[in-house]
Parts: sequence; structure tokens; C-alpha cells
Amino acid sequence: MGRPLETSSSESLTVRDNRTGKTYNIPIVDNSVSATAFKAISAPAKPNEREESGTEKGLRVADKGFLNTAVIQSEITYIDGEAGVLRYRGYPIEQLALHSSFLETAYLLIYGSLPTKDQFRVFETEVLHHSIIHADAEEFFRSFRYDAHPMAILTSAFAYLGSYYSEANPSLQGRQWQTLFTKGDKASLANMDKQIFRLIGKATTLAAMAYRIRQGRDFVIPPTGLSYTGSFLYQMDHLGEENYVPNPVLCKALDVLFLLHADHELNASCTTVLQTGSSLVDPYSAIAAGCASLYGPLHGGANEAVIRMLISIGSPANVPAFIEAVKRREKVLSGFGHRVYKTTDPRSYIIRKTADEVFKVTGRDELLETAMALHDAAMKDEYFTKRRLYPNVDFWSGLIYRAMGFPMDFFPVLFAVPRVVGWLAHWRQMMLQEGGVKIWRPRQIYVGAGKRDYVPMAERESSLVNSDPKKTPSTVPHSGMTKRTMLASYRGKSKL
Ligand code: ACO
Repeated sequence: MGRPLETSSSESLTVRDNRTGKTYNIPIVDNSVSATAFKAISAPAKPNEREESGTEKGLRVADKGFLNTAVIQSEITYIDGEAGVLRYRGYPIEQLALHSSFLETAYLLIYGSLPTKDQFRVFETEVLHHSIIHADAEEFFRSFRYDAHPMAILTSAFAYLGSYYSEANPSLQGRQWQTLFTKGDKASLANMDKQIFRLIGKATTLAAMAYRIRQGRDFVIPPTGLSYTGSFLYQMDHLGEENYVPNPVLCKALDVLFLLHADHELNASCTTVLQTGSSLVDPYSAIAAGCASLYGPLHGGANEAVIRMLISIGSPANVPAFIEAVKRREKVLSGFGHRVYKTTDPRSYIIRKTADEVFKVTGRDELLETAMALHDAAMKDEYFTKRRLYPNVDFWSGLIYRAMGFPMDFFPVLFAVPRVVGWLAHWRQMMLQEGGVKIWRPRQIYVGAGKRDYVPMAERESSLVNSDPKKTPSTVPHSGMTKRTMLASYRGKSKL
């Protein structure tokens, strides 16, 4: 905690509050200072100061958008955005992509070390065993409209899934089971791992069902004897042929893409899972929340934007004009730039290589030439190099998904399915941290009205009613109204 200065150690920050002249000494631990230490720094309120400023209650730390706020200690993923480094549990992503598999990497992310042969066999068996969905769920999927977005279906499906497992629901159990392992309850850890196996195992089943319902296809039972991605492709594509086996090159490519997307530390969706999980809700609800966050175009939607951009450019000949339009700020070069990486995203090199493997069996995507011309032009152009805008993971991934024949609105699903692993790794780590889980409850800076007294409706003067459109409900068109209903008259009523 911050205290008025008595002694100062070299591992500390000395802060002088010029309002009071007091000096505080705030310890630096792990190259960080505690935001709550700043709460000890208070000052008398100025004359006429709004009580809502809370000056006497201690200093607040403002960080809109979490630009420099560490909310947890983590042992899972390390990113150095300046150097283009990404490591899962210390292992460089390049080595994992070359030598590991998605499920082995899932084990590594969740449990902290690479599994032995026996450990992996048990984990893989558990995950694949837990891929089957209760037959009732078919009705749930059929209740969506024919044109429902697959992410709307998947997000709802994760929350729906939780309704089957009362042992995972603290409300139904009447106890906060997730954090009990730290108090010596071993059974709670087994309960946690069972939900983890279920969520990873059923993620592909739910996603495949979301895919099939829109194709008007019946559902298939997850097969045995195939890999995680092989089973996923089978569940999407099998139409009843005997001994159907998905193409191994596509299975391998999807496995590499899944491995690359498995985790990326505290991005928006992972933070959402932890924020939601901090209320100790069941893990299915927390994963549904993460899925919703990933659906946003600033997060999981960029690979789709890249394809739309390439289609709009049309051919390599149009690339120079597009680059000029970006420089005039009329367009954005989707798939370039990143909040953390200020050099090429290390995943994009691996994805580029994987794309070549896929194109060998699917044929080259017609947009590839345009993508390469765009990539090369941007990498040579001072506008991009000066701003340190380099390709990110999404620049090439959409081309692979397209070459594999996935519809564009399914791209975020292909991101969400493997990211379930990262979400669960962080969720498990948080639930098992020493000292339990504190609910994530940030503070705000209140800038609204001061205290005012209720005015009865009859006494409100129209001049006092706020005319700011942001502060009044909008007039909305009613979708049920058509030209015909507006032109109709109603028996017994005069026309308005
Ligand atoms: N095309 C053109 N100009 C860009 C781009 C881009 N893709 N990205 C950033 N810039 C420019 C900005 O206009 C700004 O220029 P200025 O300083 O002259 O005003 C400068 O580069 C810095 O950009 P910021 O917006 O400050 O960078 P920020 O870190 O806030 O944004 C982001 C990062 C959102 C990823 C941005 O680069 C972007 O919009 N990229 C395109 C979308 C995309 O590919 N998103 C996927 C990210 S990866 C992922 O989430 C899985």
C-alpha cells in the first residue's frame, strides 16, 4: 500500500502529491505498482468541488480501454510485441506449430507442461469422449432462423450447454465449488477438469451443428478414430457416404490454425471470460460471454474483412490505387497493424506457409495474387513501415478458410473453437490462484448530474426537457409496417 514517505527502497516509486505536499512511497513488485496503493493518496476537497469527485476518498487510476492495467498474474502466454515473440508456457509458437498438435498444445496451455505419452492419451481420450451432445440439443439448434449467424448460434449454444450440468453450477450446488481446491477439496478439481473436457470436446460439435443447420443438413454423431480437427471436418461434411475420411492435408492445416489461435493472453474475449467468471458463474456462461466478445469486428471479424477488401480490390493491377486510398485515409488495410505487435505477427509467417500447403490440394485461391501484391506493396511503402504496420494473423487466414470452402460468416467460428482452450486455461488458472477470486469490479469517474430532487410529471416544463438526441429515445420505424398497412384504413376509426 502507498504510505507517506518514511524510508524509500530502490524498488519503489516516490510520488509527491502537489495538492498537499505529501510524499508517498509505493513499492514496485514485478515491475508494477498496485493501483490500490494510490487510494491512500487523498486531499481535502477544494471549495465548491463536486462531492462526486471523491477527492477526500483517495486518488483513482484512470485507464480507459485497459491500455496499461495488469489485472492478473499469469504463467500461460508471453508476448513481446516489439520483437514479434509469442510463447505458450515458454515454448516459441514457431516450435509448437512445427512439432506439436492442437490438442497437445491445449494440454500445455491448460496444465503448464508438455504431456507424456500416457498423459496425452488420457487427455485426448477424455476430450474426444466428451464430444457427444444430448439428443435434445437438436431441437435447440432447429429453433434458430434459417439465416441466423453461426456465431449467434454458437454463443447461445455454449450457454445452453451449461443447463445440462448442474454440478458445474454454483447456484444449483449451493457452493462456490470452483475455488475449493485451494482449500483442499480435490473433488472440485476433478469437477473443473470434467467441464474443461466437455467444453473442448463439444466446441467442435456445437460449431458443426451451427454449420449444418444452415445447410439444411441433418446432424451427425461425432465419429471415433479421427483427430480433433478430422472429427470437426467429418461432422460438418459427412453426408452418409461409407467410410468417409476428411482430407489429411486439410485436417493438418486446420490443426495448425487451431494451435495458432488457441491463446493470445488477455485479449478482449479472454478478459471477458475472466471478468464474467469472476462472479463465480458456471464456466459455460463464462465461455458464452467470451464467444460474444470475440464476435465483434475489432476482434474476431478481421479475417472476413480481409477477404471483402481483396474482393473489392479485384486484381493486382488495382493495388497501387488501393494503397493510395489507404494513405488518403479513405480505406483501411485490413489484416495489417496490431495493438501489441509492432513488427510482423509471428503467427502470420506460419499461416502463410500453411496456405501454400492447402493451395496444393485445393488449388490457389483467385485472391492470392492480389493478396501478395498488396502485402509486397505495403511492406515497401513508407506510410506503413513508418507506422510499424505489418501483417497480422488475419491477413492470410481468411484465404485458407476460403480455399477450404468455408462461408465467410463461419470464419469467426473457426477462431472461437480453438480459443475455447485459451479461455479455459486462463479461467482455470484464476480459479486456482492462491487467495481465491476477487470479483472484477472496476471503478468509474462519475461526471453526471449532482444530487437533484424528483419533479412530478405534471410540474415538468417542456423547456426543461432535454432535447439532446443522445438523451432522449429515438423515433423508430416499426418493421411490421409496410406501405400497404400504412395506406390501409381501419373500420370504425378515422384515418390519422
Ligand atoms: N491501415 C491503415 N492505417 C492504419 C492501419 C491499417 N490497417 N492500422 C493502423 N493504421 C494507422 C492509423 O491510422 C494511425 O495513423 P496516424 O498515427 O497517422 O493517425 C497509426 O497507423 C496507428 O494506428 P492506431 O489506430 O493507433 O493503432 P491501434 O493499436 O489503436 O490499432 C488495430 C490496432 C485496431 C489492429 C489497427 O491496426 C487496425 O485497425 N488494423 C486493421 C484491422 C485488423 O487487421 N485487425 C486485426 C487485428 S489482429 C486480431 O485482433 C486477431
